[in-house]
Amino acid sequence: MLGIDVGGSGIKGAAVDLIRGDFATARVRIPTPRHSTPANVARIVAQIVDSFADIDPDTPIGITVPAVVTHGITRSAANIDPSWIDAPAAEIFANQLGRAVVVVNDADAAGIAEVRFGAARGADGVVLVTTLGTGIGSALINRGVLVPNTELGHLEIDGFDAETRAAASVKTAEGLSFAEYLPRLQRYYETLERLFWPDLFVVGGGVSRQAEEFLPKLNLNAPIVPAALLNRAGIIGAAWLAAESI
Ligand code: BGC
Repeated sequence: MLGIDVGGSGIKGAAVDLIRGDFATARVRIPTPRHSTPANVARIVAQIVDSFADIDPDTPIGITVPAVVTHGITRSAANIDPSWIDAPAAEIFANQLGRAVVVVNDADAAGIAEVRFGAARGADGVVLVTTLGTGIGSALINRGVLVPNTELGHLEIDGFDAETRAAASVKTAEGLSFAEYLPRLQRYYETLERLFWPDLFVVGGGVSRQAEEFLPKLNLNAPIVPAALLNRAGIIGAAWLAAESI
């Protein structure tokens, strides 16, 4: 199965071995076009797909986007080009590639990958995966079943859209130390906990590489652990969700 991860700076793809839950080939990456409309992104995705010679033409390709996706239509564009709002993304990709695609939210893909193969493997009950990056993405998974498009990065907390206070990009933009960032994460995760009562939190995004700086200091009832698959999670989850759709 092939998974493609459309991000703000790069579009990445790899063939995925869904038995092992890991890449079966090296990853191919092409920078995201500056004018990242669905049509422009679809052209780059086609270039990436073409670079994989032996992909079965009859199996769908999983593609993540950093937006709400309902029935193949992208519904939001918090940190991407506004032209994605209400765009028939699945149709645009399918026409460009000449094959079936499954388009999913980036955090949903990362979340399902962590549950199947990563930090939440074997976890019982409700798992809440959040990705701290440019924005905050979320995936809510109960006993292995994903509730898509939860968008918990946009919870309003203390009058703010949560991701504008607690995303990793905000830590960088405001030059916050971990000590200064921590109270924002505490407020965010305690709010999530009060509303969803997960059995396990998983935290992804680049900043989770430094998880020891903040995760052990959060005061929550549920365990909170760093993601295991890091930047492989989106591609692996996209491939998984595409396979599940068959
Ligand atoms: C978007 C989500 C996305 C997340 C991570 C948020 O701003 O609304 O759809 O999953 O960023 O990219």
